[in-house]
Amino acid sequence: MTADLILGIETSCDETAAAIVARGSDVMSSVVSSQIELHRRYGGVVPEVASRAHVELLMPVVAQAIVEAGVEDREIEAVAATHGPGLVGALLVGVSAAKAMSMVWDVPFVAINHLEAHLYAAFLEEPDLEMPLVILLVSGGHTMLIVMEGHLRYRVLGGTVDDAAGEAFDKVARYMNLGYPGGPVIDELATQGDPAAIRFPRAMANEGWDFSFSGVKTAVVNHVRKHPDADVGDVAASFQEAVIDVLVDKARDAAREVGAKGLCLAGGVAANSRLREKTLDVCAADGYRAFLPSRAMCTDNAAMVAAAAWWRLQVDGPSPLDIGADPSLRLPIVG
Ligand code: KG4
Ligand code: ZN
Repeated sequence: MTADLILGIETSCDETAAAIVARGSDVMSSVVSSQIELHRRYGGVVPEVASRAHVELLMPVVAQAIVEAGVEDREIEAVAATHGPGLVGALLVGVSAAKAMSMVWDVPFVAINHLEAHLYAAFLEEPDLEMPLVILLVSGGHTMLIVMEGHLRYRVLGGTVDDAAGEAFDKVARYMNLGYPGGPVIDELATQGDPAAIRFPRAMANEGWDFSFSGVKTAVVNHVRKHPDADVGDVAASFQEAVIDVLVDKARDAAREVGAKGLCLAGGVAANSRLREKTLDVCAADGYRAFLPSRAMCTDNAAMVAAAAWWRLQVDGPSPLDIGADPSLRLPIVG
């Protein structure tokens, strides 16, 4: 089954987002309402606050996405929503709203995996990306090294054994009182520091495909405790360098091992300037494509949900209306 015009909805964490995408890659509108200000004073996302904000924001955001796309409700051919992984209350808001709209408009409902949506962000801007493709998916909740062998066909090479990369940025920033979310702040501060000032550990650097970031986080905490006057820019740059070194080295090895046609970044941490720069460097040196989605498509948005839905609908058809939110949903592995 196909549906050319899909309304995507994303409410898995702290962004309330809706988008209209045509044929899986033509973004007609993408509206993201961030709740960062609401959560900032708690230093992280408060699930109940997130759910309530989604309830208030979702319908205005959907209305704005429809108006900005310049389409009529009746032209929408399917409604897709993220149904996991994420915060259960937050997910339920988007899933329930999407089901209701699909019933009212009498169009298919498509339940989408948030991780798969992040992978499809790349195809929004580059629909003809060649495979096999190695994708480094790095967000606040996940760090995964994935080989995409064809549409909807993935192999997970490895993941984090403790903190996700974005989580490490957020925790280090919180410890250093730099604010929330930590990634963008550290990224900015690092531009004023020396990445070689402090040699933080590169855990599991030569040990398979998995990652570990809790050690480097503890090393930063210990360093700052011992050297309270350390230059904040140097600490930020050195920490960032340690994380990015491991991420890019493993992604590069993976690309070599599978004979990838390209290396692609996905997830919120893919917005990181140093990660983007280093990925471009290694891909240029090794002679294959680097694909870096625009920063707005790296962080949570609903255009990527609609893009994934376009592919899913063709293969699986509509999702049953009794499908629920699944906070610990995993990436479907086929082949
Ligand atoms: O994908 P995303 O928007 O939400 C999740 O699904 O988790 O990712 C959010 C994560 C946060 O941990 C945030 O600190 C991190 O992405 N992040 C960054 C940058 N921008 C966002 N990390 C490093 N550098 C950045 N520029
Ligand atoms: Zn995400």
